[in-house]
Amino acid sequence: MHYVLLPFIICAFLKYIDCKGCVQLDTYSFDKITSKFEASLIKFDTAYPYGAKHDAFEAVCEAAYSSPDLLVGEVQVKDYGEKDNEELAKRYGVIKDNYPTVKLFTKNGPVTFVTNDDKDFTSDNLKKFIRSKSQVYIGLPGCLEDFDKIATEFIKTKNIDEKKSLLKKAENLWDKAKGNRENKSAETYVKIMRKILEKGPEFITNESVRVENVLKGKINKEKQTEMQERVNILQSFSIHDEL
Ligand SMILES: *[C@@H]1O[C@H](CO)[C@@H](O)[C@H](O)[C@H]1NC(C)=O
Ligand SMILES: *[C@@H]1O[C@H](CO)[C@@H](O)[C@H](O)[C@H]1NC(C)=O
Repeated sequence: MHYVLLPFIICAFLKYIDCKGCVQLDTYSFDKITSKFEASLIKFDTAYPYGAKHDAFEAVCEAAYSSPDLLVGEVQVKDYGEKDNEELAKRYGVIKDNYPTVKLFTKNGPVTFVTNDDKDFTSDNLKKFIRSKSQVYIGLPGCLEDFDKIATEFIKTKNIDEKKSLLKKAENLWDKAKGNRENKSAETYVKIMRKILEKGPEFITNESVRVENVLKGKINKEKQTEMQERVNILQSFSIHDEL
């Protein structure tokens, strides 16, 4: 029996040490470290976690590399031996049946990442959660930080001249885009802004519906990626509040 289990244990362990950019936290380091960051995305889980949810979280760890104000960490809770971190889990109301539980800690206190369905536990949804509950930047595929900032201001202001000058700013940035991918994203932002100026903010709603419908249809992989990135960019033009 032990020989049968061994490969699983080794795999789980390899997977675990492979978690790039993920900081292991415990009862002693938790407050000390999380308090230094504007936002901390923390996964409470069993020791040596693995599986689809862990993979989704891992992808966020990697993506957080370019977000200096965001800490991504993990608390591994043991219900055996020394019962490591059990106190910590208890403090935040995390119970074993709900592992993995992901919480975002900000100055406003913790909020829990909730999904209706396990299949919604994706890295993109985790990123959307971070974006909706904090001010730290973490890019969704296709999104660009500088353009996201402009998009937020663009949607906030009711002043047409201000909108026009933000469009100008985006157009100038577009000229500086590096590489095909960035160029394509920059173009998408600029074109959306032009359309909003032309048709009003309703364009965002209509365009989102249109693109979601295209995504539901039969399209190739390339088109699907393009449309998904368009959805993500459109989301940058919506008011950030709920997931
Ligand atoms: C960006 O894309 C446009 C076409 O959409 C093209 O005219 C331009 O040369 C591209 N710029 C770069 C830097 O690739
Ligand atoms: C958005 O869609 C509605 C319903 O299809 C339509 O009446 C409206 O004119 C559209 N608005 C814009 C800005 O395209």
